Amino acid sequence: MARRKVDFLIIGSGIAGLSYALKVADFGKVCIITKGKAEETNTRLAQGGIAAVMYSPDSYEKHIADTLIAGDGLCNEKVVRFTIKESTERIKDLVAWGAEFDKTTTGKYDLAKEGGHSEFRVIHHKDNTGKEIESALLDRVIAHPNIEIVENAFVIDLLTQHHLGVIVNKKTPDVNCFGAYIFNEVSNEIETILAKTTLMATGGAGNVYNTTTNPPIATGDGIAMVHRAKGMIENMEFIQFHPTSLYNPSEKPSYLISEAVRGFGGILKNQKGEEFMQKYDRRKSLAPRDIVARAIDNEMKISGDEFVYLDCRHLEKNDLINHFPNIYAKCFSLGIDISKDMIPVVPAAHYVCGGIKVDEHARTSIHHLYASGECSSTGLHGANRLASNSLLEALVFSHRASIDAINAIKTTDYCNEIPDWDAEGMVLNEEMILITQTIKELQSIMSSYVGIVRSNLRLKRAMDRLQIIHKETEELYDKSLLNFKICELRNLIAVAYLIIKMATQRKESRGLHFSINYPKNK
Ligand code: FAD
Ligand code: SIN
Repeated sequence: MARRKVDFLIIGSGIAGLSYALKVADFGKVCIITKGKAEETNTRLAQGGIAAVMYSPDSYEKHIADTLIAGDGLCNEKVVRFTIKESTERIKDLVAWGAEFDKTTTGKYDLAKEGGHSEFRVIHHKDNTGKEIESALLDRVIAHPNIEIVENAFVIDLLTQHHLGVIVNKKTPDVNCFGAYIFNEVSNEIETILAKTTLMATGGAGNVYNTTTNPPIATGDGIAMVHRAKGMIENMEFIQFHPTSLYNPSEKPSYLISEAVRGFGGILKNQKGEEFMQKYDRRKSLAPRDIVARAIDNEMKISGDEFVYLDCRHLEKNDLINHFPNIYAKCFSLGIDISKDMIPVVPAAHYVCGGIKVDEHARTSIHHLYASGECSSTGLHGANRLASNSLLEALVFSHRASIDAINAIKTTDYCNEIPDWDAEGMVLNEEMILITQTIKELQSIMSSYVGIVRSNLRLKRAMDRLQIIHKETEELYDKSLLNFKICELRNLIAVAYLIIKMATQRKESRGLHFSINYPKNK
């Protein structure tokens, strides 16, 4: 069995993993593990851009206030303050790494607006900001001699003293991370990677629902791995549904119609062509996402319709196409000319606000393990993320983690006693249907019972159903030779469990968690 030793192990090749890699690479050997091709990430799909304070009349205080309001009382204000104050510097990092953002004729950044923002502050590259960032970072990473990227390799589990035969539970005070077991699809081997420090940067978990804007890689693996390793996870009940994914039921993932389109003047309407957001919030179509998604959900339930519309017909055509060329082309390819036709839209699972609990240096509750990006819970988002704050969060926390990790490797050794993976007694599972059907069942349970609107009864029903699926899957996993799909299913089940459990424990409606048993929000 192959064994590698590295100073910095990074799990994930999105903005969190790649920006961290570039910061630590001059100080030691870096290995990035990614389960698909390196660019297959949520990052690459980001449309709207990055919220950052650049010029007056915007100010750090305004951005801080907007973030706190969106977070509905659960943000950690100290974290909000430093994240936003560091935004300007982190944008400079991206520019230095080669990312290009749109500018106006005066040479200043062309700033967009999204829901919950009181100012224009979203820096963007047309409507495909994520692609621009991912490509710029990857080019730099590939060129760096200290960084190795291993593609098509699935991180199965973190290595802790559990693998030395020590009993580890949630109360064990000093759980240590020594690296990870990875399933390398190319060599068809399970490798042991011993690392002085590990960064979890595995992104989101949108695929726990049947309709999501997230790509197939978003199966919550990092959150599930840390949960199994007895690390702390929090705030999983706060799942953000993006209000406006394109209604095109046969398409997976759902194509996003950026909130920046509403910031540009797009208006939500019902199928009768009537505006409705004024009934729900004075900010109308640009209210924070939890409010807009719930309003759309309510309108669809009242009317029985399967979608509402986003109307851009009143906007200047050339400006619209210039700002949103990809959205225009995508809709056009489906016969929708957004300058003449309204766009059918529907909410879709989009972002996990909670995740692996970290401190101000991105340190998890497990020693030598950091987490950054969507898999982490930093305290920035509280009960509802302000639009375009997530790319920023990843940059800020990966930067902070890098400073800590560069110091940590000086006093950390490898744990050579970790044994190789034991595959004895496992056989090839020839019934993939058992896995694919269970994934569909899981997604259906979560969408039906743990979606935008919840109740105690729905949550109980979801947990009861999940327990059956969990038992069957663990039995199958214990005797199967590994494949990516069974690992993902197992992780999705763990994530679903955490969402349902934390939703059940929250005896109120707040932010993205809305229960009909506690109808008054807060
Ligand atoms: P990702 O970019 O998702 O990267 C995760 C990486 O982990 C991938 O490389 C994956 O292969 C790897 N991985 C996962 N599990 C394993 C495993 N078991 N083994 C090995 N590798 C693994 N946010 C904004 O701020 N602004 C926006 O405009 C914006 N638009 C968005 C539009 C869309 C359509 C979507 C889906 C999201 C958007 N977001 C936006 C959210 C934002 O893109 C993500 O939160 C962010 O990119 C997450 O970055 P990340 O580095 O944490 O994870
Ligand atoms: C969008 O462009 O609407 C997505 C922004 C985000 O999720 O932050």
